[in-house]
Amino acid sequence: MVPTAYLNGEFLPLSETRISVMDRGFLFGDGVYEVIPVYGGRLFRLEHHLKRLQNSLDAIRISNPLAPAEWHLMLTKLVESNDAEDQAVYLQVTRGVAEKRDHAFPADVTPTLFAMSTPMAESVDIDAIPGVSAVTLEDIRWNLCNVKAITLLPNVLLRQQAIDDGGTEAILIKNGLAIEGAASNVFIVSNGLLITPPNGPSLLPGITRDLVIELAANHAIPFREADITEQQLFNAEEIWLTSSTREISPVIQLNDRVISAGKPGPLWRRMINLYQDHKMAIRKGEAS
Ligand code: PDD
Repeated sequence: MVPTAYLNGEFLPLSETRISVMDRGFLFGDGVYEVIPVYGGRLFRLEHHLKRLQNSLDAIRISNPLAPAEWHLMLTKLVESNDAEDQAVYLQVTRGVAEKRDHAFPADVTPTLFAMSTPMAESVDIDAIPGVSAVTLEDIRWNLCNVKAITLLPNVLLRQQAIDDGGTEAILIKNGLAIEGAASNVFIVSNGLLITPPNGPSLLPGITRDLVIELAANHAIPFREADITEQQLFNAEEIWLTSSTREISPVIQLNDRVISAGKPGPLWRRMINLYQDHKMAIRKGEAS
């Protein structure tokens, strides 16, 4: 079945969606996006995603094409139009189509709004999660990494470099500090303390990151938001990478070094169970 997508007010088969080559998203990467998981047909932390989207739109001076109630309606219809119980919704807003190519903002342009959904695997067998290998690379991105911009060339190159080096994700290093992954946030366990870098312009304020922090607070897991030095990263008892699509991924190898004895660590096991419980509550409509 061809997935149903949304483009500028219309629902239609994904294969039939078309935009102009003069769209500034295409020409300049001039736009922002979100990825929202769906569990049991329910959108995960929709309010958080819409707030982050608003922050990204404000940062690049695009006015929000939809009111909150319209976002709810459109996204709910998109999810219902696609079959799977668990999905990943991708949405992007670009500055729109201009008459000529000019770096400066065009006058009177209407934003382009596109959304699509892909199925996600439903059940997670925690015991079958083997852990991933990561590679440290220098953070070559810009100074507004808190904006979820569609301009992802550095992230694309960094992720590919990690894969070429035999890993699955890059952990980005800036001024001697571990910042985040190419498409994920980073956590470490150091002397029993769970640590993630504080939000700011050098990293994306991840929605999964926020939930992990909330779960730590609610279950008395010692936690701190603090800078992580490269040395702390390499000496960590555990390293996790979090994102909407990969949830909480345990790192078992970093460059040539084995992490947490080459298997997912005990605090990860505790957190992933809390995370799965939370997902179950979302499915039942008891949490968001
Ligand atoms: N990326 N940091 C970066 C640079 C990211 O691209 C992402 C997610 C995250 C994690 O954010 P969240 O928990 O809200 O997914 C952190 C998405 C999944 C993507 O680009 O596909």
